[in-house]
This record gives sequence, structure tokens and C-alpha cells, in this order.
Amino acid sequence: MASVLITGGAGFIGSHTCVVLLEAGHELVVLDDFSNSSPVALERAQLLGGGSIRCVRGDIRDPACLNAIFANAQAADTPIEAVIHFAGLKAVGESVAEPLRYWDVNLCGSRTLVAAMDAHHCRTLVFSSTSTIYGEPTRFPLVETMAPAPIHPYAQSKWAVEQLLNALAATGSWRIANLRYFNPVGAHPSGQIGEDPLGIPNNLFPFITQIAAGRLESLRVFGNDYPTHDGTGIRDYLHVMDLAEAHAHALDHLLSAAPETALTLNLGTGQGLSVLDVVHGFEQATGISILYSICARRPGDVPRLECSPQLAEQTLGWTAKRSLADMCRDGWAWQSANPHGYRR
Ligand code: NAD
Ligand code: UD1
Repeated sequence: MASVLITGGAGFIGSHTCVVLLEAGHELVVLDDFSNSSPVALERAQLLGGGSIRCVRGDIRDPACLNAIFANAQAADTPIEAVIHFAGLKAVGESVAEPLRYWDVNLCGSRTLVAAMDAHHCRTLVFSSTSTIYGEPTRFPLVETMAPAPIHPYAQSKWAVEQLLNALAATGSWRIANLRYFNPVGAHPSGQIGEDPLGIPNNLFPFITQIAAGRLESLRVFGNDYPTHDGTGIRDYLHVMDLAEAHAHALDHLLSAAPETALTLNLGTGQGLSVLDVVHGFEQATGISILYSICARRPGDVPRLECSPQLAEQTLGWTAKRSLADMCRDGWAWQSANPHGYRR
């Protein structure tokens, strides 16, 4: 089992991945500044995963903090063998308003991380990339060989990091996995950890669960005139536990791969669902009605994003196993047990 640094490990996807990695017996160090998360998520992840996590509060852009993490692990005779890099900023609208902050945290943060890794001879890295780097595609399903065409600073910063990591892999001494997530939703089936957005959610799924919890009134469906089966936007939603398990597979794969490895993999189910499919699926899974009205399209939205996850299956032996009903049931278990998230 490996000693692994998880940046952004207290966040939505990071906390679920910590549970899966603890269950597999890995030793974890989490670096997080808690700018978009709570230490409570890590306390609960430890209980669920049955292990302990060494937690460092710090900024991914701070070289001294990163160097100390690697040096301390070496001194304790548990050198860090791999990094899973979740820490970053992810709100598209915010990235348009504050491009400098997005380039700084996402690109400069990643650059600082890989420099510290290099200095400590740790050259195995799993990186959180995103489906939004495909831009506004017209051919489906999306495959990894299609050229990225990012249209906002968030996606541009993620694509820049992918390119930096690919260049490192080309030197012959790095093992890299760029994982392009589609739309992760749901929660750990215990309802103990889940997605905890600050303020009113931008994303569909937490908006729906907060309506069910009585925190919000009604959903605005952004457009019903897209060229889709019911006119509403299609996305490739996947259960966050499936996504967490994909990280465990990617880590195992890289740890036994040759040093010049660079993987780029789509992670989704391959089954696109419309906004109304999700609303009705949630109603069926939970028995709770979701009030909605049709509104204008949201600027920047694309009609459809749907991937082929075949390469991930061939390379990692991973597929998403959980259904929309599982995503809804588990997401609701989390929201109903924690109506205000980690803030009691
Ligand atoms: P999240 O905001 O819940 O988690 C990110 C974590 O990083 C948080 O715990 C936050 O406190 C931490 N962080 C932010 N800036 C930091 C900094 N400067 N130093 C240290 N820690 C910092 O987000 P998430 O949904 O778990 O996403 C994780 C990663 O996956 C992100 O990089 C995101 O861009 C990417 N991603 C997410 C989605 C999605 O739909 N959630 C989709 C595609 C890609
Ligand atoms: C958004 C981001 C994307 C990011 C992803 C996960 C934009 C333009 N894109 O993607 O870069 O990777 O979140 O963080 O912000 N919808 C409604 N009503 C709502 C909310 C959403 O109808 O209140 C619809 C949207 O129009 C879309 C679908 O639901 O068709 C999914 O939206 P969302 O959950 O925000 O995800 P993305 O748009 O895929």
C-alpha cells in the first residue's frame, strides 16, 4: 500500500476518494486550505474509511508548505509515492469574473506542486480535469482524441495543466493521469459525507436536493428548446462513489506503470440524461415532488455533454456501476441528514 498526498482532499470528490483509499489500506496526507470545504468532512471520511488521515492546512501555491510535507514524510520513513491533485477552483462564472485568481490557483498551484514533487523524486500524479475542456462539441460521444476547445478561464486553466503534465511525462520520468470528470453527483451511501456548496448552488443536483430539503422553493430549468429528446440540456451524470473508485484504479495503474506514462481518460457513464430526466428520476427515487418552471437558457451552457468511457474501461478496468436512482437516493440521504451541510 502506498503513502499518498491528496490535495483538496476535504472537498466533495476528495472526501469520497479518501474513504475509498483508506478502505484499500493506503496512508493518506491531505493538504487543504478549507476555502471551499470543512475539516468535518475529513473526520467523517476517517470513520467511514477505517483509517487515519494526516491533515495539513495550507495553500497549494505555498512551496514551503509543500516541501515540508514531502520532507516530513521522508523523515518519518513513509515517503510520499503519489499525489492525487483535487485542489482548485471550479466555478465557471467566477472564472470569467476573476481570471487571474483562476490561473493563479489552478495553473500556478499545479506548477508549485509538481516542482515540489520533482524535488522530492515523487513523480506519480493523478489530476482532476474536466469535461468542460471540450468546449461546445457537436459530435458524440466525446472521445479523448477530440481536440479540447476550452471557452472560459476555468477550462483553459485545466487544459493548460494537462499540457504541462503531458510535457513532464514526455521527459520519461513521470507517470500522469489526466482524469476528465463529467458531472459527479450523489454522496456516500451512509449520508455522512456529500456535496456542500457555499450559498445558493449553481449546479443542478444540489439545487434539487435543497428544494427537497425545503431550503429552496423551485427549480429554474434553463431552456427547453435544445435539440434533445425533451428540449432540456443533456449531461453525463455519474455517482461520486464511482468517480472515487476510478481514482483508486488510476492510482494502482500508475504505481505499476512505466515512468513515461501519460493517460487522459474520460470518466462518465456514457449515458446522457436531460434536466427533466434527473428531476423525474429524483422524484421516483425519493417520493418527493420537485417544483420547477421553464426559464431562458443559461449563458455559457452547451446543449449536450456525453462521453465514451471505453478508454477508462480498457485501461483501468473501471466502469461506473451506480444508477440514477442510486445517485438520487444517496444524494438525498446526505442532504436530509445534513440540511445545512457541514455547517450545523
Ligand atoms: P471542491 O471545491 O469541493 O474541492 C476542492 C478542494 O480544494 C476544497 O476542499 C478546497 O478547500 C480546496 N482548495 C481550493 N483552493 C485551494 C488552495 N489554493 N490550496 C489548497 N486547497 C485548496 O471541488 P470538487 O467538486 O471536489 O472538485 C475537485 C476537483 O475536481 C477540482 O479541481 C475541480 O476543478 C475538479 N472537477 C470538479 C467537477 C465537479 O463537477 N465537481 C467536475 C470536473 C472537475
Ligand atoms: C457546470 C459548469 C462546468 C462544471 C460543472 C460541474 C457552467 C456553464 N458549466 O456544468 O464547467 O464542470 O458545472 O461543476 O457553469 N440547470 C438547470 N437549472 C439549474 C442548474 C442547472 O436547468 O438551476 C441545467 C443546466 O442548464 C444544465 C444541467 O442542468 O443543462 C447541468 O447543469 P450543472 O449542474 O450546472 O452542470 P454543467 O452545466 O454541466
